Amino acid sequence: MVAHSQYGRRTLCAYSSTATAYTLERTRPTPSHMPEPLVTQARDVLEHAHVPYSEYRVGAALRTADGEVFVGCNIENANYSNSLHAEEVAIAEAVKQGHREFDRLAVTSGARDGVTPCGMCRQTLAEFCDPEMVVVCDEGGEETTEYTLSELLPNTISFDTLEAAKRDEE
Ligand code: THU
Ligand code: ZN
Repeated sequence: MVAHSQYGRRTLCAYSSTATAYTLERTRPTPSHMPEPLVTQARDVLEHAHVPYSEYRVGAALRTADGEVFVGCNIENANYSNSLHAEEVAIAEAVKQGHREFDRLAVTSGARDGVTPCGMCRQTLAEFCDPEMVVVCDEGGEETTEYTLSELLPNTISFDTLEAAKRDEE
């Protein structure tokens, strides 16, 4: 089921069964409010968030091109500015393990408010992720809003920007 919302190119989606999900449905009951598995993985890591200051939990699940999933949660610090964002933690873990290509990201908060990656995280993601990569934002229940990374961060600075500038100087 895909419903188009009033928010321009934002797309509200509900997870529809794939062959894998169908197999699972036959072996154990699946609650009707289940979102896609990547969103569930982002929700599952919320419990590990360290948020004594904002009390706002964020979870992220980043899928690599070969199907591995890396999760991250926010880890706050008493000096505030050292706080790690969920998306940073997820991508750092993936890159550290040798992954450089990603095909989907899910982000959620304890409030299920459709949280999107902040500006800093959008730029961090753009270093490795294709502009067309889909970012799934959790609205609660089975509702999600999908954006491409380039919708969230158009005209970003990239490796190509710097290479072009070097060529111009030659
Ligand atoms: N937060 C994230 O983890 N990811 C984002 O991109 C948005 C903000 C966290 C940082 C802080 O711990 C809390 O949410 C409130 O800003
Ligand atoms: Zn962020």
